[in-house]
Amino acid sequence: MADLGQVFTRGNVARYMVSLFDLPKQAAIMDPCYGAGVFLDALLGYGYSNVTACELDTALFENTRGKYPQYKLLNSDFLKYGGSNAYDGIVMNPPYIRQEKIDELGQYGITKETLRSNPIFSGLPSTANIYMFFIMKAIDLLKDGGQLIVIFPGSWMNARSGTEFQETMLSKCGVEKQIHIHGDVFEREALVDVVILKLMKGKTDINTVEEYLESKDGGLQSVSLRENKAFGEFSYPFSRLATVRRGLTTGCNEMYINPDFPCEDGGCFKPIISSPKSIDGYTTLNARLDRLFCPAEDAVSDEISSYLDFWKNKIIQEKKPKTLLFKINNSDKWYEIREICGEGILFSYFVRNDMKFVMNETGALARDNFYIIQPKVDKWVLFALLNNYYTYYQLELSGKKYGAGLLKLQRYDIEGLYFPDYERISDSDKKEMAALGHKLLESADASVIGEITKLVSKYSRTNYREITERYAAIKSNRLEVK
Ligand SMILES: C[S@@+](CC[C@H](N)C(=O)[O-])C[C@H]1O[C@@H](n2cnc3c(N)ncnc32)[C@H](O)[C@@H]1O
Repeated sequence: MADLGQVFTRGNVARYMVSLFDLPKQAAIMDPCYGAGVFLDALLGYGYSNVTACELDTALFENTRGKYPQYKLLNSDFLKYGGSNAYDGIVMNPPYIRQEKIDELGQYGITKETLRSNPIFSGLPSTANIYMFFIMKAIDLLKDGGQLIVIFPGSWMNARSGTEFQETMLSKCGVEKQIHIHGDVFEREALVDVVILKLMKGKTDINTVEEYLESKDGGLQSVSLRENKAFGEFSYPFSRLATVRRGLTTGCNEMYINPDFPCEDGGCFKPIISSPKSIDGYTTLNARLDRLFCPAEDAVSDEISSYLDFWKNKIIQEKKPKTLLFKINNSDKWYEIREICGEGILFSYFVRNDMKFVMNETGALARDNFYIIQPKVDKWVLFALLNNYYTYYQLELSGKKYGAGLLKLQRYDIEGLYFPDYERISDSDKKEMAALGHKLLESADASVIGEITKLVSKYSRTNYREITERYAAIKSNRLEVK
């Protein structure tokens, strides 16, 4: 059977979602893809009497049809459901099926082409997940002022296709509530970054209230924003352990990085690390270095002079890059660049797969693809406090997701990190952290990160298993977003 995106919502979460309706009990309500009927149970519990629901999977339909005699259940494709402006409320957990897989639903008469022939989907990006089709269809089916309560993985909102979709969606409705929820949200799948939206059709100018919840042991708990972003139990800010700055910006990499002329004495070049790809493991010791062109003030040979003249003319002619053009107009030494000490711990501006903080043992210069972290405390202890799942998880939460697995970290994301109280970490644990830092660097074995996490967990209310699972889930969630 083709993948129908069957991920079922837990009862406590479904009841909470239904509680978000403020509608009379006889309001017309639709559940577009009811699965095993968790929202139908919740709607019954709240006393709603006029409910219609669809489910494409015949086996699920057969299993549930006798269970809700008071409701109208249909074994049909919601995306082809007739009519519009018919419902006061819609509650749903739509299937999550990537665009590449939509055509596999051909046996149900669902293909990208048939979907695209419906004008209500015309504003969707070509890479739209089936979620987006469900949401646009639901909005179309709502009466003006009608309410849509929908749950979906939040990282998807940050994906590139998400931005275009949000614009389309927000042209038709406003977001009254945005609830970030983590923990046991779905029956089998542990996704960390999950969002519930309450959308109001036609009310595009309402203010959004944001909330944070945790689903645990069948209940729901409110979580403060700070706790969610940075673990309430950690209160020791990054600024007390280190400073961070961006690496060296040349303003014109073509001119400065690996220029194609030899320099006789080599004096006009300095080694620089340009890309995370040139680093193996957690140290810069074996990093592949590039050559940064930076002629010494008193040694501008003929060869260098003619190279500089070539670039000066090119920049003046093309009127770019602007920063260098400005320098040419204001200084004879326009080509000099301000070096930024690369010593410390490096962290990549973009993360593709695994995060890692790298010890810059050689002190080589680092380009602006990196942040350079300079410790205020023992650098090996800091190295361990950075390379563990508590830190990685916070960065996964705060970084901006770009789709295709890419996560972009800003300086303020690093400055926004929190750690266990450094003063309260015992001397023996600090010693062990430093030793594990060395071990990580020497072995490049990612299992050491687990060992460090275990040690840090002594100072956290979130235990080792929980943080490891949360991190694994949020990371796989990011890597799955296309
Ligand atoms: C993510 S599950 C959610 C099920 C249930 N609402 C819940 O929250 O537990 C999505 C459901 O949509 C059904 N489905 C997939 N495509 C559908 C379609 N085109 N029309 C109606 N139901 C569909 C799947 O079989 C699955 O049961």
